[in-house]
Amino acid sequence: RHPEPDPAKLAAARAAVALVQDGMKLGLGTGSTASVMVRVLADRARAEGLRLRCAATSLATCELAESLGLSIESLDRIGWLDMTIDGADEIDPDLHLIKGGGGAHLREKIVAAASKRMVVIADPAKVVEQLGVFPLPVEVVQFGFETTRTLIRRALTDLDLGDRDVLHRLKGSDPWVTDEGNWILDLHLACIPDPVALARALSAIPGVVEHGLFLGMCQLAIIGKPDGTVICLD
Ligand code: A5P
Repeated sequence: RHPEPDPAKLAAARAAVALVQDGMKLGLGTGSTASVMVRVLADRARAEGLRLRCAATSLATCELAESLGLSIESLDRIGWLDMTIDGADEIDPDLHLIKGGGGAHLREKIVAAASKRMVVIADPAKVVEQLGVFPLPVEVVQFGFETTRTLIRRALTDLDLGDRDVLHRLKGSDPWVTDEGNWILDLHLACIPDPVALARALSAIPGVVEHGLFLGMCQLAIIGKPDGTVICLD
């Protein structure tokens, strides 16, 4: 049995799953909050006999969803999605996000881009005035890794973000490998005054596959509180 879910995450997950309608095509996010949502969704789908078509943003979410009786199809087989429900590491007042703490932001961004609507679920700790305290994940190809890291450092200097740690994410003593077989750099920036400029600069670097800034992608953030209530930001 899995442990009792965090009440704030559960509240956000329940409110998001309440938006699901029979026949919908859904994107399922990754992370601890998204996992709670997958469990709530599976319970509701079973109880109400909902016919859903779901795409997963990671192998972990795929395994969890299938173990709970939800059927997962490839994104290309389903096509465009009605809604994706996912977690986030930081949410600012413009609903710009940092994602990728779980290393799944590449697939998450593709699935969100294929969705009419991206709904983010989170606990209050994720809501910030300005992005950047959470280290920004950047997925990079293994080939030329140190070259890519140097180019990222130069881009940060050009943007006046200073000489910051750009750390290779590890699992034990080995590189952390994404579902797409790439590595991750975590950018310890402390603050990101201009997320649009940083996103543009990172995307222009060869070797960068995808960064964890989700700008203008999320239409609704549901923030669950420990007392079981939610606040909606849109
Ligand atoms: C996965 O790569 C991330 O984008 C997650 O959505 C994010 O890290 C939120 O995870 P938690 O819900 O576990 O905090």
